Amino acid sequence: MPKLNMKEVAQRLDQSNISLSIADGTQDDFPLVYVNPAFCTVTGYDTDQMIGRNCRFLQSDLENDAPRAVIRDALKNGTAAQAVFQNRRLDGTTFNNLLIIEPLQDREGNLAYVVGAQFLVNAETRAAAAEAHGNQIVREIDKLLDLNERLRATSRQALARSMAAAVRLWMET
Ligand SMILES: Cc1cc2nc3c(=O)[nH]c(=O)nc-3n(C[C@H](O)[C@H](O)[C@H](O)COP(=O)(O)O)c2cc1C
Repeated sequence: MPKLNMKEVAQRLDQSNISLSIADGTQDDFPLVYVNPAFCTVTGYDTDQMIGRNCRFLQSDLENDAPRAVIRDALKNGTAAQAVFQNRRLDGTTFNNLLIIEPLQDREGNLAYVVGAQFLVNAETRAAAAEAHGNQIVREIDKLLDLNERLRATSRQALARSMAAAVRLWMET
């Protein structure tokens, strides 16, 4: 199973203004192996407080049955997905988190890692901003893929489009 070099990942993704995380897809319960500073800023947690944990701790006591089911299914099937979660920061405040997940598979098609991008959404979120954000995520994932030619992502353009669609849908509800 190919392993990402986390030092290299950090060099490339630490500067991103998009909130990004990577979970190990080969271990039980998808522990986080990388979070970037933007993700720390959004959540209020330090890197050390998040590595090794499943990201669901951000849900705290908040109701998230529907988005959890969507993400659970996608992780089971190794597919990309998005869902809006209610999350709680370290300081106790809550936010709506549009989570996009994208599987990274090895050459044999086995799930190796899952990249997560988190996007704060609210009533003022504009579809155009969402689309720009989606395209940015695609670029970040491309950077990540440069790191290890054995890893490949599928449907990267679809990811950007589906993300924009998800935000629009969310805005209409
Ligand atoms: C890479 C990655 C990032 C994730 N980021 C978040 C997040 O920011 N907030 C959240 O509530 N859940 C996040 N999740 C989803 C949860 O970790 C978990 O998969 C989800 O709650 C469904 O599983 P469960 O029903 O067993 O909790 C993330 C998952 C992955 C794989």
